[in-house]
Amino acid sequence: MITPSTSELYRDYVMPTYGRFDLALSRGEGTHVWDEAGKAYLDFGAGIAVCSLGHAHPKLVKVLANQAATLIHTSNLYLTRPQGELAKLIVELVGLGGKVFFCNSGAEANEGLYKLARKFGAPTDRYEIITFTNSFHGRTLGGISATAQEKVKIDFAPLVEGFVHVPFNDLAATEAAINSRTVAILLEPVQGEGGINPATPEFLKGVRALCDKHDLLLMFDEVQCGFGRTGDWCAWKTIVPSGVEPDAVSWAKGIASGVPLGAFWAGSRPTASVQLCDLLGPGTHGTTYGGNPLVAAAGLAVLSIIQQEGLLENARELGTHLMGKLVAMNLPAIRLVKGVGLMIGIELNDLEGEGPASIIATKALMAAGLLVVPSGERTIRLLPPLNITKAEADEALSILQKVLSAADSR
Ligand SMILES: Cc1ncc(COP(=O)(O)O)c(C=O)c1O
Repeated sequence: MITPSTSELYRDYVMPTYGRFDLALSRGEGTHVWDEAGKAYLDFGAGIAVCSLGHAHPKLVKVLANQAATLIHTSNLYLTRPQGELAKLIVELVGLGGKVFFCNSGAEANEGLYKLARKFGAPTDRYEIITFTNSFHGRTLGGISATAQEKVKIDFAPLVEGFVHVPFNDLAATEAAINSRTVAILLEPVQGEGGINPATPEFLKGVRALCDKHDLLLMFDEVQCGFGRTGDWCAWKTIVPSGVEPDAVSWAKGIASGVPLGAFWAGSRPTASVQLCDLLGPGTHGTTYGGNPLVAAAGLAVLSIIQQEGLLENARELGTHLMGKLVAMNLPAIRLVKGVGLMIGIELNDLEGEGPASIIATKALMAAGLLVVPSGERTIRLLPPLNITKAEADEALSILQKVLSAADSR
């Protein structure tokens, strides 16, 4: 019998929902992954901003093994210690009081935010949430309705009602979109899938003021930019260090370095009945796996290791190093370098070859042993683990220099 290859298994049995690269990875360690043929790659995609600690971090592996041997899952009918401790740690890191709900992914964390906003608006008919061009909030029906990119919505009508899209970083347009139905503003402090676009400080301060003026919730989607990627626990603080306090925040991706964990937090502002963080009472929201002992132990370990190993500083320092060197390369292929911490976008000029520049560059870099993540037609993202070394950053820079110098810009 002939054993099918991994590509053949995918071709025959896995739904074709992703535009995947034909690369089958089988192992990882630190910042490196290996394909099935044994070729090594420097992983500057980290599973799309997920593997904060890189691959097979020994402390995380040990915590997972111990917890798996102790108690993996109980459902949320019962209490388990790791969930309570992780919630406490998150509340402490955010530093604004409040409480946390655990789920399994970024889209699901955002669903919690939409429901929180609807509940905040009830029983009046305030239910509209303002979101922004080039945003990305996930692939559930709610997520694609919230996402202000037409390409994710095609053929999925009717969408969920109540999302209004406005140009990002445009305060006047945001104010003009507010009406008697508006209940919340939702934004990514640094847009990820939209091509690494940071909010401006004026915009963040301005939307907070608008929310105060009109009694709206300010909600941040930090699924991609949160928990260390920008060099701070809270991405919004890398843009405005103090004075802009959200009412609710969602996370996933880097929070547990690859173990599927999502979460959202709500603060303690008063509502008509209870504090915001107590608004979703028993029976209003839930998920079977959310915050089970295995994933919560992973989240606790990841956030503690980020603290112990000084990875916020590392993200800031190596982010500045990478961006400085990329700008200094001054290559014709590079149009713009943008980003915050280890969330870096390289916007490319048109390149000679088949398809969009982002895909041409990603494939050429892959062939040279560097994994990056394309974003749209002309941006590639560097989203490495937060614990990369300077030597690894320099190795990635030298591959980028070599490959992008050889790429002919049209
Ligand atoms: C900002 C943002 N929100 C939400 C999501 C959806 O997260 P998930 O794919 O875990 O559902 C993503 C995924 O890329 C994201 O970048």
